[in-house]
Amino acid sequence: MVDPTNRNDPFWYRTAVFYAVYVRTFADANGDGIGDFRGLTAKLDYLSWFGVDCIWVLPMYPSPLKDGGYDIADYCDILPAYGTLSDFTEFLRESHDRGIRVITDLVINHTSDQHPWFQESRSSPTSPKRDWYVWRDTDTGYSDVRIIFTDSEPSNWTWDDTAKQYFWHRFYRHQPDLNFDNPEVQQAILDVASFWADLGVDGFRVDAAPYLVEREGTTCDNLPETHAVLKRLRAHLDARHPGTILLAEANLWPEQLVDYFGQGDEFQLAYHFPIMPRMYLALHEQNARSLIDMLRRTPDIPPNCQWGVFLRNHDELTLEMVTEAERAAMYEAFAPVPRLRVNVGIRRRLAPLLQGDRRKIELLHGLLLSLPGSPFLYYGDEIGMGDLPFLNDRDAVRTPMQWSPDRNGGFSRAERDRLTLPVIEDPQYGYPHVNVEDQQRQESSLLQALRWLLTVRHRHPLFGLGSLDLVDVDQPAVLAYLRRHDGATALGVFNLSAHSQSIHLDLMPYIGISPVDLVGGAVLDRIDTAPYTLVLAPYGFYWLGLG
Ligand code: NOJ
Repeated sequence: MVDPTNRNDPFWYRTAVFYAVYVRTFADANGDGIGDFRGLTAKLDYLSWFGVDCIWVLPMYPSPLKDGGYDIADYCDILPAYGTLSDFTEFLRESHDRGIRVITDLVINHTSDQHPWFQESRSSPTSPKRDWYVWRDTDTGYSDVRIIFTDSEPSNWTWDDTAKQYFWHRFYRHQPDLNFDNPEVQQAILDVASFWADLGVDGFRVDAAPYLVEREGTTCDNLPETHAVLKRLRAHLDARHPGTILLAEANLWPEQLVDYFGQGDEFQLAYHFPIMPRMYLALHEQNARSLIDMLRRTPDIPPNCQWGVFLRNHDELTLEMVTEAERAAMYEAFAPVPRLRVNVGIRRRLAPLLQGDRRKIELLHGLLLSLPGSPFLYYGDEIGMGDLPFLNDRDAVRTPMQWSPDRNGGFSRAERDRLTLPVIEDPQYGYPHVNVEDQQRQESSLLQALRWLLTVRHRHPLFGLGSLDLVDVDQPAVLAYLRRHDGATALGVFNLSAHSQSIHLDLMPYIGISPVDLVGGAVLDRIDTAPYTLVLAPYGFYWLGLG
């Protein structure tokens, strides 16, 4: 159960466990084959039982759904297939009653081309909304800007036959970028944020944060003008909706990422993109080197801020934040065939990426839940769901949640061919074998193991709040670090290799202490003057309490 005492903690997001939900494929209450808010609301007891503190709802707005809802056609309503605004507020109320907070996606860099703003903008050069988007007579501007969806978009400019001009887009051509140089656009976005904050939403994940403003002769990424817009959004929320948090989606190196925290006056949270692929890389290389490098390279952040750490999400496992050699190695190891790749990344879920190996799945969660940052879990990964690489784009990793061995995995009562996306049925990952109901019943299941890790993490605020100190290890396959907060210390030790490891650690400052296995409960041998010896099983890990 979520700790209700957290409710009044203004820094709740620094110790929270986040859980991403794609409403479309989570739970279908009305039996039309598409998930909805009533379905999600009915699953809140499950999320509370599992230990989720905050639900991140992927875009739930009216949308043609050509980009999973990141193509918004109306900022102030709910996609009719997902329910009504009143279903949404009911979901919010029921979440809050359980001590669960809710953040939503604020996709402000672009809209859908179906949005009335764009329709109006394209309709005439004299339209009052013309300047709300970025129009040009030629497609040659901003030529230093990279293309993000490399698989589908040859250019960031697309010709519009109605407007008789080119418009600018950082993502799909059906997602025209808003023009943040226009003060009306900025105001409109502040109004959107207020609309949802007034309904009780606890925060926003700001999609595509680095790309808001364009300037000729630059990469248009991370411009000071973009930071100014984001700071204005934060100031607006602080003034009008205090306590409403902002999370940055910015796929950047740590040195640029920290700018998104500002002086504690921009984002409260930012995903730590570079650490993510290195957790997989370290496993593949059976060597902690790349993780250690990235942890060393991660700067301190303002005290009211926090990293968001994650293993997977609804997108491809992005390989933008690794070197070319590392990228090649990861493609080879985790996505040997082209179908498993999309853009600069891999469209696979956590369990198949790790060959369905329970030990590796638990090890990476042991890491994720003890690294500095708040963990973001992706729906379905807690039961080891698989993927469907034959589906288009990133739908491969967005298939319906597997609730039970019943029809459609308990996701929907609809006929199979009415389902918005197919359920997984294969022998290894299909719902008859991989589902919540069975794993809730089986004490030894992955779901139960991860739930226990969340429970232990909740008992020790140092995992969210503590400092990080790497500890030297005499085996390159083992990573060790100390987390310390408020007089409490935990030692995390992770064996990234397929072999058991006997390691020796210098724990001089802790002489006289008998480490306690926080997960298993055992009390280990006392630390004395000699280097301390620990034996780890293949892919084994420890969270050890040192007082
Ligand atoms: C990032 C989102 O996570 C992704 O799903 C989306 O396609 C792009 N931003 C564009 O909004």
